[in-house]
Amino acid sequence: MSQLQPVRGTHDLLNDVMRKHRHIINRCLLLCERYGFNEIKTPIFEFSDVFLRTLGETSDIVSKEMYTFLDKGGDSISLRPEGTAGVVRAFISEGLTHQLPLKLFYEGPMFRYERPQKGRYRQFYQIGVELLGVENPDADVEVISLAELLLKELGVLSRVQLEINSIGDKASRDTFRKELVNYYKKHEKSLSEESLRRLLINPMRILDSKDRADIAINQNAPQLEHFLNPLSKEKFTHIQKALDDLKINYKINPRLVRGLDYYCHLVFEFRTTELGSQDAVLSGGRYDGLSEIMGGAQTPAVGWAAGVERLSLLIPTELPTKRPISLIPLGDAAEGVCRELAHQLRSQGFAIDMAHSGNMSNRMKKATKQNAVAAIIIGDNELQSGDYTLKILDTGAQLKVKKADLAKRLNASFSHYIS
Ligand code: HAM
Repeated sequence: MSQLQPVRGTHDLLNDVMRKHRHIINRCLLLCERYGFNEIKTPIFEFSDVFLRTLGETSDIVSKEMYTFLDKGGDSISLRPEGTAGVVRAFISEGLTHQLPLKLFYEGPMFRYERPQKGRYRQFYQIGVELLGVENPDADVEVISLAELLLKELGVLSRVQLEINSIGDKASRDTFRKELVNYYKKHEKSLSEESLRRLLINPMRILDSKDRADIAINQNAPQLEHFLNPLSKEKFTHIQKALDDLKINYKINPRLVRGLDYYCHLVFEFRTTELGSQDAVLSGGRYDGLSEIMGGAQTPAVGWAAGVERLSLLIPTELPTKRPISLIPLGDAAEGVCRELAHQLRSQGFAIDMAHSGNMSNRMKKATKQNAVAAIIIGDNELQSGDYTLKILDTGAQLKVKKADLAKRLNASFSHYIS
């Protein structure tokens, strides 16, 4: 190791990036409470089988991107590449089948061995929701409306577009897949290398290709909607009508198929044009068959997950930090008084920045840099008279406040900074 660095595709979260990250998770958590979702934390690693059979052997995640290893006991373990399979595993192994409908929220790191680029990492963070036990497509609408409100509250809704599609049930998809393979075989010579690989293992993903030649071929490819059965069509129409009623803007994208095997009926993505090829910001869909594939009872379910880093990249401005009050002691005697005062004010809810070293001018500079609302200056004169100097930094006004009146005075002027 020539230089001490984080592993490629991983990153440290600091300062404004960390603040945005925390802000996104907190906003989502608060909103989930409004919608009746409870938080769940599953382990970041599971037996590999939890992902292998559920996401699909031919999916990009399972075929290329999993961090899988044998542990010291010889078990095959994988770092979770996504949250849904672990939540459904918990639903079955924790015996939650009697608590339906179940509404769960999660946040945490996911791991995929992908080629890193802007908005794509090997360790990234997701927030996500899963609603289990409701077959009615109103559940699909509820999770979409939660997503839309979250994006609105984060101030990024105008930078994304909701795209929806129905991929029907398994029987419809099987018939469609056969038609699709026949069609692509006629265009084999012009397909991209990646699509030729997908033709053998996962032909529906060719529809999603971003390669120019593939896009041209896809223009005339068979469309999944023509293969949907009446029930799928009815569900999809219901969802569109409900989204219209809620005035949630969407676009039907017949080529949206998503990369994971467990989906059926509705799939959706909030996409952006601002992050290059990493256009999916929040994605999800229905996965009625997943619980059964994992050995549980048949349980309808729908959910989504969003990449925290991608959301963060869309939040344009820096987030404000909490504005502190700076305490500036001048001299040894004042240091001790300020220490006690800091303790008292912090227990009242104020953010206190206590400069530990430097002369008066440096400490004032630091207070300004920290965006402090006020500075309290205590030197020998102040200690003797019992009148502390309070400087309001936004106006530059400076006044004397009696030691005994200080807390009251700060409460009157700065109560909105108390947390
Ligand atoms: P996904 O589309 O694989 O779906 O990932 C969801 C979101 O995670 C994406 O829209 C994207 O914002 C973010 N994401 C994915 N890969 C990366 C990466 N390498 N770096 C940064 N961000 C990334 C799922 O994971 C499903 N479990 C979603 C779901 C929940 N479906 C139903 N319930």
